Amino acid sequence: MTYDKHGVLEMAEVNYASNRPAASNPIKINDVSLRDGHQSLFATRGRTEDMIPVAEMIDEIGYNAVEVWGGATFDTMHRFLGEDPWERLRTLKKYMPQTPFSMLLRGQNIVGYRNYADDVVRAFVQRSIDNGMDIFRVFDALNDFRNFEIAAEVIKENKKHLQGAVCYTLTEQRLGGEVYNMEYYLNKVKELVEIGVDSICLKDMAGLLAPYDAYNIIREIKKITDIPLNLHTHFTSGMGDLAIFKAIEAGVDIVDTCIGPYAYRTSHPAVEPIVISLLGTNRDSGMSIKKITAIADEMEVHIPKYKHLDNNPKYAITDISVILHQTPGGMLSNLVNQLKAMDSLHRLEEVFQMLPKVRKDLGNVPLVTPTSQIVGVQTVNNVLFDKEEGEYAQITEQVKDLCFGMYGKTTDPINPEVQKKALEGYPKGENPTTERPGSILEPELDEAKEKASGLARDIDDELIVALYPVTGKRFLRWKYGQEDIPLEFKPRTLGQVEKEERLIRKALAGELTSNGNGRSRRELEVTVDGERFTVEINDPYSQELANRSRRSHRAVAQEVEEGGSGKLIASIPAMIVEIKKKVGDKVNADEIVAVFEAMKMMNSMKAGIDGVVKEVNFSAGDNISKGDVIMVIEPEE
Ligand code: CO
Repeated sequence: MTYDKHGVLEMAEVNYASNRPAASNPIKINDVSLRDGHQSLFATRGRTEDMIPVAEMIDEIGYNAVEVWGGATFDTMHRFLGEDPWERLRTLKKYMPQTPFSMLLRGQNIVGYRNYADDVVRAFVQRSIDNGMDIFRVFDALNDFRNFEIAAEVIKENKKHLQGAVCYTLTEQRLGGEVYNMEYYLNKVKELVEIGVDSICLKDMAGLLAPYDAYNIIREIKKITDIPLNLHTHFTSGMGDLAIFKAIEAGVDIVDTCIGPYAYRTSHPAVEPIVISLLGTNRDSGMSIKKITAIADEMEVHIPKYKHLDNNPKYAITDISVILHQTPGGMLSNLVNQLKAMDSLHRLEEVFQMLPKVRKDLGNVPLVTPTSQIVGVQTVNNVLFDKEEGEYAQITEQVKDLCFGMYGKTTDPINPEVQKKALEGYPKGENPTTERPGSILEPELDEAKEKASGLARDIDDELIVALYPVTGKRFLRWKYGQEDIPLEFKPRTLGQVEKEERLIRKALAGELTSNGNGRSRRELEVTVDGERFTVEINDPYSQELANRSRRSHRAVAQEVEEGGSGKLIASIPAMIVEIKKKVGDKVNADEIVAVFEAMKMMNSMKAGIDGVVKEVNFSAGDNISKGDVIMVIEPEE
């Protein structure tokens, strides 16, 4: 039977359960469970020890590639897990020698949130290859492929696989409109072909791709190039499986999936139904569903350790708000956290209203790390701090960089008024640049090596510090035993999880008496037979959770007390990145005295008054809580 011209797959007329014929054009499948899967579902907190039990099994399946690294893994591992990211790569390689490894590389942003200098990019990509990486999926948040240049050079020199990704984003509910239409994507694909990529990825990080758009866009891309085409889509809106199916019908070569327990919600379509659905067709993957099921069973064992990180209170596994508000899953939870930290969650609807306006002002950029953060945080700032619309009273450092051109070329021009305001007093100049961002950055590696000296023992250590100066150094102190890893960063064991669940059951049965000291108590939402309960339990991890949510919040504002003495007070939790002044230093009101990071965005704090620094209470790397007095400045007589 052939229904191909109607878009229906060709079926083999055999009993494929007992006699499975080889497909003429098998779909190639990537597994992304060990990177994007846990990044999407439990904040990238998956630990190597829980990957090892499934690694060999995954290696047996015949995946086209396994994505095991990159994206947020590098950051979370050294920051929250006390694990060396390089070590994971080497360890997994031992268990998975057959399947090519792939990673997500944010172009000149590497695995961070800003553009790094060329020397850092070169060293990082080279070390990734040396440690076992085979396929590099390279993307740029602005789809400005000049940001691939340096990474691509190193990948090619080493004869590794360069996959160029186009970020799929929309301004409308479906493909089309003035900005992100078919023409835009086809032009981007042509640019990639010109660069000489080995394969192309359509990277739908937010799950926006509707099935018929998937079909059309893949058909059109296939007309202009026969370079292998990989679809990366998320399930988020609920369209993921449908989009993958129409893409397969349209002739896509490779699709990304997760194994059942790591699939769906904001993650990816599951591999199992795809394998079964294609059984016996001309696009049969040839994969053993039995072997995949065994992996899923093993994964189920370890998942309870991460349950506490899934704070999605919804029953629905689909979230159409991604289409309605153009906010990818990760971005939405960040917005909610940021508003919560400012006691302003009730203003979420205003943020949704404001978001497309801010995005338009900032050149209608795609919303993907880091632009999703940049646009999201600025939107919240505008809603909370602006007295009139379009004022941009508090502009983040990243928006200033974006306006200068430090991230590359935006899709549309930036609103000139916003740009002018953002670049007032900008250190690199008030006129934006059109250069490739990397080419205007001074080399950074030597300075990083210096910063890391006494701590780092090799180039891999130095690169951790080059990418993440503050948390990177803290990690190296943990790694080499100069500092203990705090309890909150240590792995949870199944025993602990079981104990916690026993406590919950007891609490629900009314068998627990409340004797908590308040500090170590924790509220848990649990569902029993479809009914939801809130229970309080005592356990040391409550503090970890409290700290964790505190740390993830952004922004510190400042208060200048009446009567003159300037107290710089944290209005929300953050991490100090740099204190620029010491006790006794003279400052003027407009001078930046401290830099802090919250929600992965850098913010700077001005002195607020002219005077002399009397007190400095924190140093780089410290976490600050709401109400903390960071610095005291006294006016000069
Ligand atoms: Co993704």
